[in-house]
Amino acid sequence: MADNAVLEAIASRRSVIRFRDEPVSDEQLADILEAGRWAPSFANAQPWTFIVIKDSDTKRRLVDVVERVTIARQGVVDAPLLVAVVVDPIKDPRHFVEAGAVAAQNMALAAHSLGLASYWVGVYDPSGRRNTAEAKLKKALGVPREFRLIALLPIGVPDQTPDKKREDLRELVRYEKFA
Ligand SMILES: Cc1cc2nc3c(=O)[nH]c(=O)nc-3n(C[C@H](O)[C@H](O)[C@H](O)COP(=O)(O)O)c2cc1C
Repeated sequence: MADNAVLEAIASRRSVIRFRDEPVSDEQLADILEAGRWAPSFANAQPWTFIVIKDSDTKRRLVDVVERVTIARQGVVDAPLLVAVVVDPIKDPRHFVEAGAVAAQNMALAAHSLGLASYWVGVYDPSGRRNTAEAKLKKALGVPREFRLIALLPIGVPDQTPDKKREDLRELVRYEKFA
């Protein structure tokens, strides 16, 4: 791989669920949000809103719901802040999920490049039904019903260095046609 900061950040980012009891500075947070803002979206619709959550009462309310969808509840408690990625399907009816996903990944990479870490709490429920974890988290965060919650990213100073593998490129890549 070429010696390049972007490639290095992409390859070395890992999901971290244990955080140190250390803050994320306002400057770091601003850089992370800026990375989300510069994500691509269909026709540059930019259908996202990023909710920054620091309040411990709000976090506690989220944890009660989050433990239904992830084993990694402790990260939500320990992270000094969380960013919820909310999208507006009216602004982009066809590609709101992808838009939220690329913004979330941009922010995860930015956090990693600043010496921080994050993980993705997968809360989006394609069914869109009431009574899902997504619907309950939206309620806890005051998100209107027509908006969708794509991801919740706890962000903080990492207290672990997980190792994860990927499939070999030879398993993933085909040329010209699938078969
Ligand atoms: C859409 C999506 C949903 C995810 N949901 C969760 C989750 O609910 N809880 C969790 O601990 N990690 C979650 N993850 C993180 C994955 O487990 C992680 O990215 C994967 O195991 C690869 O590890 P790495 O990110 O450290 O390379 C999610 C990741 C994605 C992209």
